[in-house]
Amino acid sequence: MKVVVTGAAGQIAYSLVPFLCEEGIFNSPKKIDLNLVEIPQAMERLDGFVKELEDSAYSTINSISTFDNIQDAVIDADWCLLVGSIPRGIVLNGKEIKERSDLLKINGGIFTEQGSAIGKNAKPSCKILVVGNPANTNALIGKINSKIDSQLWMAMTMLDALRAKAQLAHKLNCHVDEIYRLAVFGNHSPTMFPDLENTFVDGKSAYESINNHDWVENEFLPRVQQRGAEIIKARGASSASSAARAACETVKAVEHPTRSGDVFNAAVMSDGAYGIPEGIFSGFPLISDGRGSIEIVRDYSLSDFAKTGLKRTADELVAERNLVKDLI
Ligand code: NAD
Ligand code: LMR
Repeated sequence: MKVVVTGAAGQIAYSLVPFLCEEGIFNSPKKIDLNLVEIPQAMERLDGFVKELEDSAYSTINSISTFDNIQDAVIDADWCLLVGSIPRGIVLNGKEIKERSDLLKINGGIFTEQGSAIGKNAKPSCKILVVGNPANTNALIGKINSKIDSQLWMAMTMLDALRAKAQLAHKLNCHVDEIYRLAVFGNHSPTMFPDLENTFVDGKSAYESINNHDWVENEFLPRVQQRGAEIIKARGASSASSAARAACETVKAVEHPTRSGDVFNAAVMSDGAYGIPEGIFSGFPLISDGRGSIEIVRDYSLSDFAKTGLKRTADELVAERNLVKDLI
């Protein structure tokens, strides 16, 4: 089992790689060959991390290798977790990067090269999770440049779903495990649409249990949509431990069958489901059979409020696609 992580000397990877090395994540008895990728300037920092991973003596690991080029790192890869890229909140050329979309031109180029390398060198069955922002459009750039259909490209919206579950559990005074069918549609950006109208807690509609549309629209939605910015403001750096856990949860969700009656969240290439235009990466409710096949769940009923939210986030994704026309 070959697993590639880019941005491996960064803050997300520092939590993510140990999570991935725990037993059972990949639902496979095979040991892991871990390929860690960084830019040349960060290789020394990466070597320090590798020493710590060696000292952790994971029983799941067969080998750990480091790379400063993507082409060799992804040869025969089963999984690629594409974290390497610039986060927002930092100052570049005297200007603070405020929105994830401001990263399009800076990070987009990384994904042309990585997409093409994965298409040529990784396994035809390779699964790819894009974490680096703007994740949805980076995934689109990567997939188009891979020029191969059999690989599964996803962008991470699991963190948004976990954030929404945490807020809902707090509101309804329930445990996060009691929440079913919570879906986050659209972009990993302030336009994302976490839907509560199809969410169930203890067999009952979460929306009806809350019985307060004003809270849903004016407290819950903005809180989840702006959580990334809230964390940057408080920490002085973008979320890392929670992002790492969400990435690991996405791998687990793909590699294990989805629990009965539930969904998991990731952004995949739209085929027109729920009126989201084809050919953009949008968050959808998904199920996995645990044997490599994932599907969009198509039975959510959308109110006019939800339809307006989905249109707004889809419009933003189409606009992002137009901005990277030269890369796809
Ligand atoms: P970081 O700056 O700590 O680490 C990023 C690492 O990527 C750095 O070590 C850098 O050297 C490396 N890198 C840059 N270009 C690379 C390339 N071409 N190949 C390999 N490595 C490269 O940042 P971080 O906090 O780990 O965040 C990484 C990305 O994840 C950011 O874009 C951030 O916005 C994004 N993010 C996404 C989500 C999500 O929910 N989708 C959540 C949190 C953060
Ligand atoms: C997040 O949602 O925490 C990440 O996408 C980082 C960011 O820029 O908000």
